[in-house]
Amino acid sequence: MVKKNTCVFISGRGSNLKNLIIHSRDNSFPIKISLVISNNKKAIGLNYAKKFKIPYIFINTDSKNYEKKILFNLKKYKIKFICLAGYMKIISKNLTKAFQGKIINIHPSLLPKFKGLNTYSRMLKNNEKKGGCTVHFVNERLDGGSTITKKIFFIEKNDDEKILKNKTQILEYKAFPEAIIKIFRNI
Ligand code: GAR
Repeated sequence: MVKKNTCVFISGRGSNLKNLIIHSRDNSFPIKISLVISNNKKAIGLNYAKKFKIPYIFINTDSKNYEKKILFNLKKYKIKFICLAGYMKIISKNLTKAFQGKIINIHPSLLPKFKGLNTYSRMLKNNEKKGGCTVHFVNERLDGGSTITKKIFFIEKNDDEKILKNKTQILEYKAFPEAIIKIFRNI
């Protein structure tokens, strides 16, 4: 099987990146992570790129020509597929256009509920009964593309933000690889 050359975008801890790297080392997993892009120089997740010897680049998304830099590097590394794993920046129009149907994102809620930031505090405020995560295709609307996989858990009375995050991320580590397998099985 020819693995799809993939770039993972991160901004922070990178636990989903680590999980995807581990899955991608399996011969039957459909992607190879060939590049990691971070918009945060100090993202802890960059250490996983270093540890697993994957090329990585910091791109300052406050700089003028950042989109050009991203597109240049995606071309340079022959990237065919993009996973957003805790990338806290909206993807620019030209990038979504250039990679239509080839960018996926993981979001810590049951979309279309709780798009955007601070999902856990908003869920608690809203007395939600269920939480979860969604893997979806990225289009020009924030957290708006079609869903690939969703996973659900029940919120208990004493759950706080930390517990919600834990419960969500345990599900994310299953949902992200499952979504990738599902996409490439259907092609
Ligand atoms: C994940 O829980 C992901 O769902 C969330 O950031 C976390 C990153 O964790 N993404 C978003 O909120 C995007 N809107 P990680 O850096 O440990 O993988």
